[in-house]
Amino acid sequence: MIKKIILNTSEVVTCSGYEPKYGKDMSNIGVIEKGAVVIEDDKIKAVGKEEDILKKINKKEYEVIDADGKSVMPGFIDSHTHFVFGGYREEEFSWRLRGDNYMDIMRRGGGIISTVKSTRQASLEELVESGRKRLDSMLKFGVTTVEGKSGYGLDLETEIKQLKAMKEIQKDHPIDIAVTFLGPHAVPEKYKGKEDEFIDFQIEKVLPKVVENNLAEFADIFCEEGVFDIKQSRKFLSKAKEMGLKLKLHADEIVQLGGAELAAELGAISADHLLQVSDKGIKDMAEKGVISTLLPGTAFCLKEKYADGRKMIDRGCAVALATDLNPGSSFTNSIPLIIALAALYMNLSPEEIVTALTINSAAAIDRVSETGSIDPGKKADILILDYPSYKFLPYHVGVNIVKTVIKDGQIVQEN
Ligand code: NIG
Ligand code: FE
Repeated sequence: MIKKIILNTSEVVTCSGYEPKYGKDMSNIGVIEKGAVVIEDDKIKAVGKEEDILKKINKKEYEVIDADGKSVMPGFIDSHTHFVFGGYREEEFSWRLRGDNYMDIMRRGGGIISTVKSTRQASLEELVESGRKRLDSMLKFGVTTVEGKSGYGLDLETEIKQLKAMKEIQKDHPIDIAVTFLGPHAVPEKYKGKEDEFIDFQIEKVLPKVVENNLAEFADIFCEEGVFDIKQSRKFLSKAKEMGLKLKLHADEIVQLGGAELAAELGAISADHLLQVSDKGIKDMAEKGVISTLLPGTAFCLKEKYADGRKMIDRGCAVALATDLNPGSSFTNSIPLIIALAALYMNLSPEEIVTALTINSAAAIDRVSETGSIDPGKKADILILDYPSYKFLPYHVGVNIVKTVIKDGQIVQEN
């Protein structure tokens, strides 16, 4: 057994818990001044005050990780990304700067549909190669678990290729990947005006293959005006649930359609985006325990108004934050950017931001019993920061202050 101990910290931010944190509870991040963390193999064995821990163990048996008087916290979890895709859309970004609208570009056959073309053309190897590089970059920002979606194939072959790429990357990448099937992400050209038929195609032809081959744990849909309506979303997600997948939704992003309410009705694990969510949607998410995943990078890049995270927390929701990394609406995997936007434009406190990127993000991908906090029995997914307090995360604006990344008990990144 490999035994390690993290000593000489200023604080250990535990985010302790085995359940998501709702509302006011998001501020309880469980700071232990001068804490220590005991690691055995890939798991956390104990956490507490350094002086107490040292009384209970024989230090000689442990490899010491010296935190150099700095803050220690759980690894970040990026619980909503589209990190496997072919091609880029840098022209589209320039069009948007000139005032073009994201949905109009998509209606013209650009946007998601343009990435669908490039992803269909890419080989499995190319998707694995570029996806792996994106995860390498995430690791530098302290991300230890990520969620990734398909949705740039829309056809059977390419959807499966994207999902397989994630399985392939998982074989040798330290970051844990939670995989989501997002077959109904856009309406392909040949199904324009026949969205019901496309939903049936996804249900009859693609979903069964995904489930049979155990290629995804979650199902997701772009529930939006001009994409898939509530009825189509309900049909697809109900079937996915029946077949054993857990549910997520791209909900109430551009238009208030009632995606959050649908998430609550179907017992989805999360509803994501929520820029336009109604008060009823907020109430339903809080009551039914649907995680509200907010993606401020997308609002920033699309110059939209931010989701009202403040209101959601004040009304008892469990909020998570994620990057939404994708080649169109939010081409960023920058955790520091997300932290800055959440603090300065969504009025979340440093404590709420920490919770939203750790334990609540773990909950959004159903990993809350194994990661997202520094608690005995959980994976040793831990960060050492470059400053003595987690409060520097929003304060040192837009800068990566992660110094050391420990994944499954191993130091995998030193910045
Ligand atoms: O989460 N909103 C829909 N889907 C993605 C964007 C995908 C893209 O533009 O390529 C999102 O923002
Ligand atoms: Fe997304």
